Amino acid sequence: MPKPLFAPSVLTVDFARLGEAIREAEEAGVDWIHLDVMDGRFVPNLTFGPLVVEAVRRVTSLPLDVHLMIVEPERYLKDFAMAGADWITIHVEATYHPHRGVQQVRELGKKAGLAVNPGTPLEAFEPLLPELDLALLMSVNPGFGGQRYIPSSTARLKALKEMRDRLNPACLVEVDGGVNEKTLPLVLQGGADVVVAGSALFNERPVAENLKRLKEVVHAFGRG
Ligand code: DX5
Ligand code: ZN
Repeated sequence: MPKPLFAPSVLTVDFARLGEAIREAEEAGVDWIHLDVMDGRFVPNLTFGPLVVEAVRRVTSLPLDVHLMIVEPERYLKDFAMAGADWITIHVEATYHPHRGVQQVRELGKKAGLAVNPGTPLEAFEPLLPELDLALLMSVNPGFGGQRYIPSSTARLKALKEMRDRLNPACLVEVDGGVNEKTLPLVLQGGADVVVAGSALFNERPVAENLKRLKEVVHAFGRG
């Protein structure tokens, strides 16, 4: 199995120095930048919109993985595409028409992702998997960085990976929430292709050191 990609979530960085933090992560060797968009309705928290995505686009050439935790995401897909998102993920719980949303992302020429909350049955992926570039499994309830990994996520991840292998092997499986040195082995066991990490990468230590620690776990697991 190939090495997992690391997609740092910038949610826990000091937003006054967002550009610097992203450059630091890029220099450290991360693969993507994960941007958490929250609307205060789908999740209790509020973050940022397309303007910030556009600003981030100017400071990095890494793929931008935009995770939309907003209701009726279809209203903003074009704005995020224009802002420079490469991957756009919507939540299945956030719209009456996830299939239409996914199609719209593809029509905009972007990679389409679908996310599910920890309480949503994985069957939600089934009809849409053939259309997806990315399937995102939340391993915390979305809304905040720094939460604890929900243990049942590992079994869900395995089941999702099996579904992916059966229905659309080209689709990447991403895990988001509570991933750190201790929980990374669980996520690797589950077979994640893309690992989101926020507080484990952006904390008091340099990103390079944190990434090195995570990559050592990957190596010890035999996937890198
Ligand atoms: C949660 C977000 C995550 C989160 C990751 O709502 O989607 O991307 O910020 O942060 P950690 O790794 O700290 O759980
Ligand atoms: Zn996220």
